[in-house]
Amino acid sequence: MPVVAIDGPAGTGKSTVARRLADRVGAHYLDTGAMYRAATLAVQRAGVAPDSDDVAPVVAAAEIRLAPGPDGATVVTLNGDDVSADIRTDAVTGDVSAVSANARVRELLVELQRAHADSALLVVEGRDIGTVVFPTAALKVYLTATPEARAERRHRQNISAGRESVLDEVLASVNRRDHLDSTREASPLRAADDAVLVDTSDMTLEQVLDRLTELVSERIGEL
Ligand code: DC
Repeated sequence: MPVVAIDGPAGTGKSTVARRLADRVGAHYLDTGAMYRAATLAVQRAGVAPDSDDVAPVVAAAEIRLAPGPDGATVVTLNGDDVSADIRTDAVTGDVSAVSANARVRELLVELQRAHADSALLVVEGRDIGTVVFPTAALKVYLTATPEARAERRHRQNISAGRESVLDEVLASVNRRDHLDSTREASPLRAADDAVLVDTSDMTLEQVLDRLTELVSERIGEL
């Protein structure tokens, strides 16, 4: 079960790159951020504060499922309810760092993530895939980009999705999440020692995809 681990902060184009790469090389795709988002939504629906000790039992009792949807997108269900859109709101984005800092929540979700590995090639994107979830992954990629480039991308995505967006606020939110994600005690965001670093600041999506496809064939062979 070869795994391609793609880690990095928000706004590097990671989700699009991981999804498109999986499509190109005929792999399954797993979006682990969507799991942390679904867990956060479960916590909010239970009326529990995101940094409270009651978070872990709520997540343990929640049934979070990820399944392939149309156009390579992921359909996320929470207790049988399709929450694919609900997990992308600002309310969820605002609380997800606190929920994902909970060590017990991470244990539960890592177990769920490992259960997705089977005989097929799997492209997994997240923050701790190469360091914690699949430390023996056949290929580890760490995508980076400057905070400004990442905020600019998020801002454009917001506008094209019809969401209100102020660039300075998006940049502040990117910096805040980077700080929380990289300084938390449980599995902080960092590149694995054996990860290939790819800075996407000045690269187009196609250039990033070409580079990663090249790495997959070098490391895993022609598929
Ligand atoms: O990739 P994303 O923005 O959908 O991720 C949402 C949050 O989940 C992000 O702030 C950090 C957290 N996360 C994590 O802690 N570990 C992962 N493997 C994936 C996401």
